[in-house]
Amino acid sequence: MKKSMVIGANGQIGTDLVSGLAQRFGAENVIATDIREGNHGDVQFESLDILDNETLEILIKKHNVGTVYLLAALLSATAEQKPMAAWKLNMDGLFNVLELAKAGTIEKIFWPSSIAVFGPTTPRDNTPQTTVMEPSTVYGISKLAGERWCEYYHNKYGIDVRSIRYPGLISYKAEPGGGTTDYAVDIYYKALQDGKYECYLEGDTYLPMMYMEDAIKATIDLMHVDEEKIKIRSSYNLAGISFSPVEISEEIKKYIPDFSISYTPDFRQVIANSWPKSINESQACKDWGWENSYDLESMTKAMFAGLEEKLSITK
Ligand code: NAD
Ligand code: SER
Repeated sequence: MKKSMVIGANGQIGTDLVSGLAQRFGAENVIATDIREGNHGDVQFESLDILDNETLEILIKKHNVGTVYLLAALLSATAEQKPMAAWKLNMDGLFNVLELAKAGTIEKIFWPSSIAVFGPTTPRDNTPQTTVMEPSTVYGISKLAGERWCEYYHNKYGIDVRSIRYPGLISYKAEPGGGTTDYAVDIYYKALQDGKYECYLEGDTYLPMMYMEDAIKATIDLMHVDEEKIKIRSSYNLAGISFSPVEISEEIKKYIPDFSISYTPDFRQVIANSWPKSINESQACKDWGWENSYDLESMTKAMFAGLEEKLSITK
């Protein structure tokens, strides 16, 4: 059996994806890599800068890797601060992996896109799979370009590349890495630690979000569905759960009645205003049977259970 390599394994998604893959296929069949040192238990870890093409090829051959999950990227908020670094990492990293697939060294690629591919001219409610896409952020521009290249490499060279436009992801194992949707993770930490939260988005800002367990299931399902079922080679819309800061804080108050939230919008408000409020995922449901499990209520329950254990909070 050829192995799976996760690149950017120490990040918010990588931490859960590595353990999800190890549970499903065995730790010996997964290789975790990141530019930062990491520890993924029984899963072997290798240091790797995705921009170092030579080392990438050496490690893929050394470990008999068939599938690459490319997660290394700069996210929306950080990318606005470092536009050129974001463009370089988000694009060159993808090209390095696509070119190795073209050369026959890699068999299959997962590359995540984002709701950030949409922009202010996109219909914001129930955003369709195919619609106007004029992103206004560095991150969104890089994700849209990445989607076009993935489809191009599939059509032109037959590369088996698969992708999801993740909504904002909510998890407790690793902290998020510089996105606009990070407030919906931070709020749970601050609720438990301080009983209050200062939000950088307005209270009525609706964004599509998803609990990490659903995102990992979607990723592994998509990567293991028969190739003929994959009709979209740019990236699939997934809806997740749409909610606002007011709604998540109301849910938190069911656990912490004195919890309070205040609003001090910053530059991330402008980014959030350019993204969809809700997403239409019917294509993913039709093509590969996607179904979301968590809603705001069950996600909040799972987040508090996970964080209380992680932060050793006893009630
Ligand atoms: P993250 O910032 O938490 O993790 C990224 C990881 O990549 C980090 O561990 C970092 O050390 C590593 N990295 C950075 N530069 C590297 C390099 N040159 N070589 C190798 N590794 C490097 O990000 P994440 O939230 O886990 O996101 C992973 C992917 O999913 C990204 O492509 C992101 O755009 C996409 N995505 C994430 C979300 C979300 O809500 N988390 C939503 C949509 C799309
Ligand atoms: N969660 C990501 C961000 O906010 C969306 O891709 O950047």
